[in-house]
Amino acid sequence: MSKHDVFSRRDILAGGLAFTAAASLPGLPPARANARFALKPAPATINIVGEKWPDTAVWAYNGTVPGPELRLKQGERLTVDVTNGLDQPTTVHWHGLRLPNAMDGVPELTQEAIEPGQSFTYDFDAVDAGTFWYHPHFNTPEQVGRGLHGALIVEEPNPPQVDRDLAWVIDDWRFQRDASIDDSFGAGMDISHGGRSGNTVTVNGRLMETFTVRSGERLRLRLINAANARIFGLRFDGLSPTVIALDGQPVTPHAPDKGLVVLGPGMRADLIIDCSGDPGSTAGLTDVYYGRDGYTFAKVRYSDDAPLRTSPLDAPIALAANPVSEPDLNNAKRHTVVLEGGAMGNMRGAIYKGQQMPIRDLVQHMKMWAINGVASHGMTMDPILTLKRGQTYVFTIRNDTGWPHPMHMHGHVFRVLSNGGKPVLHTPMVDTVLVERGNSADIAFVADNPGDWLFHCHVLEHALGGMSSVIRVA
Ligand code: C2O
Ligand code: CU
Repeated sequence: MSKHDVFSRRDILAGGLAFTAAASLPGLPPARANARFALKPAPATINIVGEKWPDTAVWAYNGTVPGPELRLKQGERLTVDVTNGLDQPTTVHWHGLRLPNAMDGVPELTQEAIEPGQSFTYDFDAVDAGTFWYHPHFNTPEQVGRGLHGALIVEEPNPPQVDRDLAWVIDDWRFQRDASIDDSFGAGMDISHGGRSGNTVTVNGRLMETFTVRSGERLRLRLINAANARIFGLRFDGLSPTVIALDGQPVTPHAPDKGLVVLGPGMRADLIIDCSGDPGSTAGLTDVYYGRDGYTFAKVRYSDDAPLRTSPLDAPIALAANPVSEPDLNNAKRHTVVLEGGAMGNMRGAIYKGQQMPIRDLVQHMKMWAINGVASHGMTMDPILTLKRGQTYVFTIRNDTGWPHPMHMHGHVFRVLSNGGKPVLHTPMVDTVLVERGNSADIAFVADNPGDWLFHCHVLEHALGGMSSVIRVA
């Protein structure tokens, strides 16, 4: 061993000792790796639909749609400095992450909105690995709909071996003929019906032409539905995906139920795909949620290269569980959460700002939905439920409306026990559950994260139109 080696080893040792000493000093947070990023939401101009078409004026994080992909390792601390370059307030919500309430990014409820020109630093530990995303929670339909959203990937310490790990942020835009964004945000028709669905589906901010794969390669594909309202029912033609995580949380690896990966707004799926087609062949992703033949929004082409390997990679794909408390179903307390309202519904009225109102008055306030008889206003509502910290709850979410609702809970993840009267395959742990019209879903979770948390429909126009609530964990 040379003198130099000894020196560098001693340096490392000294550093290690200093680390331990600092970590044990009272009042100091334990030292850990820090992932630091800066995000600036601001107007930008980008090309979305192709070079032959005009550029589109959007609102973007750091000038790109989606915003930069934030990647860090599980257990690291995430620090994000946000500076508001919009001419209206904003916040950033870290969708699906279990974090301290003050970092959740909900204006009025967990923080003051960030005013134009002002900054706010989000800072929390990434306790769960998985596929998450970030978006504003102020004027949400318009801010998300104009392009503010991005992928947040927390990597496992030992991720499954793959050839490529890709995040696809899937979005749906309502464009006019000149590729500008239709500015009819908050239209009553969208609020009372299925939300603002668009006319153009993009992957990572581009109309996807053809995605090239190589025969024999193993992909990890992280799909994120960032659309305001569109639900995707993805069929894979010529590809056989295995689902390994839903909403970022590991699930027993399985082939998609009935061959479809269904993603409501806000929802994610991690897929392992062994590309087993022949060089030169084609495949594709087709959305069939709205029936008929659907449309193929991502064509896949196998390159002419010789297969990367002849038989699929023989490596495990199951993910290790995140440190989520398992619900104790034998000692659960039960609640029912009723969703009402919307076009073709039978809601007669609801409480709005503390007053019972008939539907025709609610409509004047653009409130057309209610949760447990209350139409939301702003973000600082009285909680519909106060939960005891550490207790397991089973909620029956009953959809008494004519529309599907992806119901999203902040600060927690829950197991979906049943949906539409049927047990759900592998009772996945998720943060959003799609409840079809006239159906109920039973979810179970441990209320272990203290604070006031939003529980709302992730069709952003529904959330704005009354389908939001607050759940208190105390
Ligand atoms: Cu994706 Cu309340 O959020
Ligand atoms: Cu809804």
